[in-house]
Order: sequence, then structure tokens, then C-alpha cells
Amino acid sequence: MSDRVDDRIEIHSGDITKLKVDAIVNAANAQLRPGGGVCGAIHRAAGRNLREACARIGGCETGQSVHTEGFDLKAKYVIHTVGPVWRGGGENEAALLASCYRTALKIAKQIGAGSIAFPAISTGVYGFPLDRATQVAVATVRDFLAGDESIRRVIFCVFGPEAEAAYRRELGI
Ligand code: AR6
Repeated sequence: MSDRVDDRIEIHSGDITKLKVDAIVNAANAQLRPGGGVCGAIHRAAGRNLREACARIGGCETGQSVHTEGFDLKAKYVIHTVGPVWRGGGENEAALLASCYRTALKIAKQIGAGSIAFPAISTGVYGFPLDRATQVAVATVRDFLAGDESIRRVIFCVFGPEAEAAYRRELGI
């Protein structure tokens, strides 16, 4: 590999629904319903076609990902991943969270999405401690990119100064 993995990783602070990338990742629930948080924002911005597409898929297991079109979003695709609910750390939460990032990247590769933006999955309503979640997110993305050249750009889309600081620390930027 000619380039450094970290050259393909960046941080963006703000609303993920505004990003013009091939795919944005949704921190979804297992029923793929609109819900709140980043999921609610994505559904509002993408329009009712997204809700209908999600209803047709029907659901997704924790740690797994599925994709739809982006509909009214600037992004071509939405990759919906279901993060684990934090239950104290002894319920495989870290491995399930890593699986969210890995399965989302795998789908991005399959559908030819060269740029992808992730929110901080599970760190809102699902209560995963931010620092630990950030470590999992960064390590899993680095590991995937080290073995894949098709994904040229991964954006960690942070919402708020605390998340931005955590990602800056972890990435050393
Ligand atoms: N752009 C980017 N990040 C955002 C945005 C946005 N517009 N809005 C919030 N965040 P959460 P979870 C950040 O709660 O913990 C939903 O109801 C937020 O600050 O959205 O995985 C789903 O339907 C936080 O850092 O997702 C599920 O039921 C991060 O996104 C459940 O919540 C994730 O927070 C999923 O919970």
C-alpha cells in the first residue's frame, strides 16, 4: 500500500445529514424505525422514502448493517448499523460495536462507496462511554483501511466538542 491509512481518515464537526459523500452511516435501531438522535435527523432529511425502504427491509441485528438509497440526502446511500446498548461492558458491547464499523465498511466496499461518514455510533441514547467507543471506532476503521484500497475517505462526523476532542485525541490530530 502506497498511502498511509490515516491520510484517508478525517474529522468533521457538524450534522451528518449535510455531508456530500457516497454513504453516510446511520446509528439505527433493530427495527430500522426513524427514532431520535442522528437516526431521526437522517430520516427527516432523507424523506418518507427512507422510512418505507427501511420498513421493507424489516430489521437488522445488533452489530450488523444494511443499506438503502439516500433519497433526499446529498449522500447516495445510507448504511444503517445497529449499535449495542451499553450494559456495563460485560455483554460483548465492544466487539459488537467493532462489528458495526466493520460491516458498514464491508457494505461500502461492495456498493462502490469510496467515501463514507460515520457518526459516533452507540454514544448517545445507547450510552456507550465516548472514550471507549472512540477507541473501538478508530482502531476498527484503521484496521479495515489497512487491508482495503477502495475506500478513499472515512469521515468521523462528530456532534459537539466532547466527541471532537475524543476523536482528535485518538487520531492524534
Ligand atoms: N449528525 C451527526 N451526529 C449526530 C447528529 C447529527 N445530526 N445528531 C446526533 N448525533 P444517537 P445511539 C450524535 O443517540 O446512541 C435513536 O433513537 C450524538 O451526539 O443518535 O447509537 C435510534 O433510532 C451521538 O454522539 O445513537 C436508536 O434507537 C451520536 O450521534 C438509538 O437512538 C449517536 O447518538 C441509537 O442510539
